[in-house]
Amino acid sequence: MSIAVESVRWNNGELTIIDQTLLPEEVKYIQLKKPEDVWQAINRLAVRGAPAIGIAAAYGLVLKILNSGAKSAEELISEADQTAEYLKTSRPTAVNLSWAVERLLTVMKNSGEQSPDRLSRLAEQEAIRIHREDKEICRSIGKHGSELITRPVQILTHCNTGGLATGQFGTAFSVIFHAHQNSNIHNVWVDETRPLLQGARLTTWELRQADIPFSLISDSMAGMVMQQNAVDMIIVGTDRVAANGDTANKIGTYSLAVLAQYHRIPFYVAAPVSSIDFSISHGDDIPIEERESREITHIKNQAIAPADCPVYNPAFDVTPASLISGFITEFGVIAPPFEANLRKLRGRVLV
Ligand code: MRU
Repeated sequence: MSIAVESVRWNNGELTIIDQTLLPEEVKYIQLKKPEDVWQAINRLAVRGAPAIGIAAAYGLVLKILNSGAKSAEELISEADQTAEYLKTSRPTAVNLSWAVERLLTVMKNSGEQSPDRLSRLAEQEAIRIHREDKEICRSIGKHGSELITRPVQILTHCNTGGLATGQFGTAFSVIFHAHQNSNIHNVWVDETRPLLQGARLTTWELRQADIPFSLISDSMAGMVMQQNAVDMIIVGTDRVAANGDTANKIGTYSLAVLAQYHRIPFYVAAPVSSIDFSISHGDDIPIEERESREITHIKNQAIAPADCPVYNPAFDVTPASLISGFITEFGVIAPPFEANLRKLRGRVLV
C-alpha cells in the first residue's frame, strides 16, 4: 500500500506541479516559472484542493521575489504585497490561499531584514515550512479521524481530498487511508463530483494506488445508497470554515449533509486549522466562486447541452454547522458547540 502522490514540488527554486486536469489518463508534471503561471494553474484547476493551492500560491510569491531586481527591502516587500494580492484573485473560496501568502508577507515584514536577497530567502524558507507542515497536519488529521472508526465501515466522500489536494496524505482522504491501515474500510463510495469529476478522475485514482476498496457512484446516487443503509459515515474536506462552523466545500456537499441528517448518518468535515476563517462569522459571508458555463455544457470538449444554454455554475456550497457532526482537525475531533470549540484552535500550530 503506497501513498506516493506529490502534487506540488519545490526543488532549488523550481516549482513543478502535476497537471491535475489531465488525470487519470496522463501523469504530466509541468514547471511554473512565474506568478502568472501559478495564477493560471490555480485558476484552471491544474493545481487544486484548498491546502495545495495555498502551497502553490506561497511558492508563486517566492518565484516573484527570488527573481526580483529590487534594490531595497522596502521595494521587495512592496512587490511581494502586489503579487500576493494578484495571486489571491486566482480563486476566491479557499481561505488557505490568502492564509499562505499572508503568512509569507508577515514573516518578511516582521524580520527587520534589510538585504533583499536574504529577505527573499526567508520567504522561501517559510513557503517550504508551510509545505512541510501540511504533510504533518494531514497525517495528524488522518490519525485523529481514524480513531472514530472502530469497525469495518462504508464511507461516502465527495470531490478529492487526497495527496493531490494537499502536501501529502490529504484530509478526508487521510482519515480513510489511516482507517484502512487499521483494516476498518469495507468500502468507500466515491461521488463522481460533477461538473469537473474530481471524484471520478482523482479520488478513484488515489484510492486505487493505496489499494483501498471503493465504488464510484454518480452524485445523484448518494441518497439511494444512504437509504439502502450502505453508508456508515460521510467525510468531506473544506475550502473555508466560518467561525460558527458553517462550511464551504465542493458543490454537492450541502445536499449530502441534508441527506445524512435525514438518514441519521454522521457527517464529518476534515479541516486543517488553516481552513478556518475566524474573520467570517457565518457562512453567508464566504465568497463562492462561479465558474464558466462550459464546465456544465461540455464534458471533455464534448457538448452535452444545446449551444448557448443558460447556465448557473457555483463551484462550492455552504453546509450549515447544524448539519455537521464534528470537525476532524490536526488537534483532534472538534464537537459542537462549534463557535466556542473552534475558537480554542485560533492561533494554534502543530509543528
Ligand atoms: O474545486 P476544487 O477541486 O479545488 O475543490 C476542492 C474541494 O472542494 C475539496 O474538498 C477541498 O478543497 C478540500 S481538499 C483537502
